[in-house]
Amino acid sequence: MSPHVRRAAIAAAAATLVAGAVYGSAQAQEDTSQGPSVQQAETLRDAASASGRFVGTAVNDGRLYDGNYSSIVASEFSSVTAENVMKWDTVQPSQGNFNFSGGDRLVDFAQQNNQQVYGHTLVWHSQLPSWVSNGGFNAEQLNAVMENHITEVVSHYAGQVAYWDVVNEAFNDDGTLRQSVFQQTIGEEYIANAFRAADAADPNAKLCINDYSTDGINAKSNAMYDLVSSLLDQGVPIDCVGFQSHLILDQLPSDYQENLQRFSDLGLEVIVTELDIRIQDPADSSDLQRQAEQYQQVVSSCVAVSGCAGVTVWGISDADSWVPGTFPGYGAACPWDEYLQPKPAYDGILTGFGG
Ligand code: XIL
Repeated sequence: MSPHVRRAAIAAAAATLVAGAVYGSAQAQEDTSQGPSVQQAETLRDAASASGRFVGTAVNDGRLYDGNYSSIVASEFSSVTAENVMKWDTVQPSQGNFNFSGGDRLVDFAQQNNQQVYGHTLVWHSQLPSWVSNGGFNAEQLNAVMENHITEVVSHYAGQVAYWDVVNEAFNDDGTLRQSVFQQTIGEEYIANAFRAADAADPNAKLCINDYSTDGINAKSNAMYDLVSSLLDQGVPIDCVGFQSHLILDQLPSDYQENLQRFSDLGLEVIVTELDIRIQDPADSSDLQRQAEQYQQVVSSCVAVSGCAGVTVWGISDADSWVPGTFPGYGAACPWDEYLQPKPAYDGILTGFGG
């Protein structure tokens, strides 16, 4: 275990204790005021906290001030991830002009509700403004642009963001490195450079690499495993691996837990960062039941792996999900329906956490 990993692990344990204590005392007060005869429904965050994990959701900034939406986010989740407003195209749309307004709103919301903020994301080929992707920078210049972005964003949120997805979607599905502008211009060392810059800006934030279709054991997750092993060997400050887990109904990899476990065995935290389970239209009640079972399996896999810190779902409701727009013919991927009513998947998550 690298010193950085060890330090982060200790900080994580302390944070879990503090969060549990604060939230536990709030619950105790609620229970007393309502009297012993009123059964308070257990929330996802109660159940996750009892299992020593966090439960998060992606938050759509434009929906935060719908009272129904925001009260679900506040009461059911212990962690929030900005769905879009901490991405490069929002935060630094033109060179040197930083816009933290959306991210700051989310941090305020989280602080009001005793929630952790999961930062997403610093270096990614997508939602990257063209001044970066087509800027014509040489290696040295682009590395400086990248490190400056990381330094500005991470130091702005230092002490307020618990985890950062430092590098997002670095791989192609065959396990080769994606030919992003960073890879093409700087070369593979952009990854180590990004982690070092983030660590310098906030040594206490936990630093993750995140990807999709790495959820089972396959060429892409093997390449991720080799990369993070080599980063650890080089002393690069990496703490965690994020598994997006944008899943398709009935296609949950059978080795999902085994895959999380092998990364955890490296001494890294593992996190389910963007869970949703999409269903081919129209979803019927049998589909929704199997979806609930598969949500439960993902969550119970996290609970079974000691290094798994938590599970974040990619949006609460089918009304806001990115799925129909990105995967035409699919939908119903989230734990709440389009009327913000909990679906069977909600109970699957609760049960997965032991609730
Ligand atoms: C998605 C958002 O949900 C959409 O609103 C946006 O239009 C595109 O990005 N992997 C990621 C997330 O890391 O940032 C993506 O979020 C979903 C896939």
